[in-house]
Amino acid sequence: MGLVIVNEISKLREIITEHKRNGKSIALVPTMGCLHDGHKSLMQKAHSIADITVASVFVNPIQFCPGEDYDKYPRTLDSDKLVAESAGVDIIFAPSVNEMYPDLQKFSDLTMVAPPYELTDIMCGKSRVGHFDGVETVVTKLFNIVQPDFACFGMKDIQQLFLIKKMVKDLNFPIEIIPCPLVREDSGLALSSRNKYLTEEQKKIALSLSKALFAIRGMYDAGVKETKKMFDTGLTNLDKNVELEYLEFVSFDTFKPVEFVGEATICALAARVGGVRLIDNIVLEV
Ligand code: PAF
Repeated sequence: MGLVIVNEISKLREIITEHKRNGKSIALVPTMGCLHDGHKSLMQKAHSIADITVASVFVNPIQFCPGEDYDKYPRTLDSDKLVAESAGVDIIFAPSVNEMYPDLQKFSDLTMVAPPYELTDIMCGKSRVGHFDGVETVVTKLFNIVQPDFACFGMKDIQQLFLIKKMVKDLNFPIEIIPCPLVREDSGLALSSRNKYLTEEQKKIALSLSKALFAIRGMYDAGVKETKKMFDTGLTNLDKNVELEYLEFVSFDTFKPVEFVGEATICALAARVGGVRLIDNIVLEV
């Protein structure tokens, strides 16, 4: 079967129903398109664990805050098809905004799925108020539409991954969430659709984000456990033109800050380079 592009929910449901009737397992890779090798690795993982791989390509308006890049977010469906096909995707679900939100006049018209405030008033959620409500709502809709057995999410969006895992547990979705490793350029820069906004000069500045994380990792490998010391080292490695939003050490079990690295600790950061918001993280202890 070659790659099929589906725009309507009803059509996708028909196809999925038929696959389920034939006993096929389904894996979903939710994306906003502008696919890069990070997305490709999610799709390859999905393809390796399920009979049918569905990738959604939908720039979700309700997860963008006022003043963010919703209008200019790259829409590249033609090249996305090539990436998806090369990764073994069977179906691209690319609905219009009207297909996903037919009655949307304003956010308050929608039934929303919202993560707990204490887990969103930190890190990315602190500056992107309402962002994770928009993410959880669209992911819930995609889960209900596609009814996958598995869903693959990248570890670059580490807070998103944590919140989705919690949502699946709290709301009893019969779906296994598959976390997939962050993918970097050879230079160390974490792959992101937003890297497209960076000039060559800004890319060089952005490299200091991964440099800071690698320096922290180096300290930890050398035996340092105190996160305050690692924080200071991280700061000294950042280019002076980086506007740091946060650099945090948190437990991946609770997302609470940690003073000393123990089990399941990650170091995550968000920063702006030339106005472009970038995120990155490194796992210190699994
Ligand atoms: O990670 C993303 O690209 C988006 O937040 C997601 C999960 C596709 C929901 O729109």
